[in-house]
Amino acid sequence: MYQTLLTSIENNVLTITINRPEKLNALNRNVFTDLDKALSDIETNPGIKSAIITGAGTKAFVAGADISEFSDYSKEQAMAMSKRGQDIFAKIERCNKPIIAAVNGFALGGGCELSMACHFRIASENAKFGQPEVNLGLIPGYGGTQRLVQLIGKGRALEHLMSGNMIDAHEAKQFGLVNHVTGADNLLEQAKFILSVINSKAPLAVAACIKAANAVYDETKNGFDLEIEEFGNCFATKDMKEGVSAFLEKRKAKFNGK
Ligand code: COA
Repeated sequence: MYQTLLTSIENNVLTITINRPEKLNALNRNVFTDLDKALSDIETNPGIKSAIITGAGTKAFVAGADISEFSDYSKEQAMAMSKRGQDIFAKIERCNKPIIAAVNGFALGGGCELSMACHFRIASENAKFGQPEVNLGLIPGYGGTQRLVQLIGKGRALEHLMSGNMIDAHEAKQFGLVNHVTGADNLLEQAKFILSVINSKAPLAVAACIKAANAVYDETKNGFDLEIEEFGNCFATKDMKEGVSAFLEKRKAKFNGK
């Protein structure tokens, strides 16, 4: 089904593994085409409640955009490449189902940007984040200048953007770039456990959390107004009635996404 991704679904969690380990899972055109398709599947497949993105092998999550593909690009081609990457990463960020990055090694350049487009990140002890584009005379092109500032603050972000220095897993946790650091062997298990908790909640409320949190960074929206609207929308769902009834009846709620 995919040329560059391995996928599996277990307990309604789709695991997407970017599978070019010999190139440290660098993002080439085929990976973007495949990711685009996989994201559409997440949105439309009722059997998928949430997803994990990770990298094949033990060394890298994703070591960046595939440098061999863009060495002779013109300005226009470079801008088109940047736009395509930004659009696909925005599709992750705006997805109405949770998508988390399980960062299992190098997350550099486009790899760091991919992880930052996910709703949150967990990392293995050997994870290393960074935007080393300055080493190539470049800047990040897939949203990295924006999301790194959003996630770790302007001062820290600018230091890392301008130096290309890497951030190890523990520093990343301290910066708030990742939520949890675990041993490499437990990474996927931990990601699946976190998603099993989220998957047991009301899907429309989960989707509304994503939408409202995204509004913080969207200057075309007033996040507080959007919160009022989404809060109201929840009252029109069967799941809200079920959640409140279950609480009052001292039983576990059974949500069905309606
Ligand atoms: N694009 C294309 N190929 C890449 C790549 C990238 N971003 N990152 C790694 N690779 C390839 C290497 O060219 C090498 O391929 P080869 O065996 O055919 O020569 C293979 O992956 C293994 O990488 P290598 O550099 O030998 O591993 P290493 O352990 O010595 O170094 C890194 C690991 C991550 C530090 C190093 O690969 C690196 O700096 N990669 C580029 C990171 C980057 O600048 N990303 C931003 C791109 S815009």
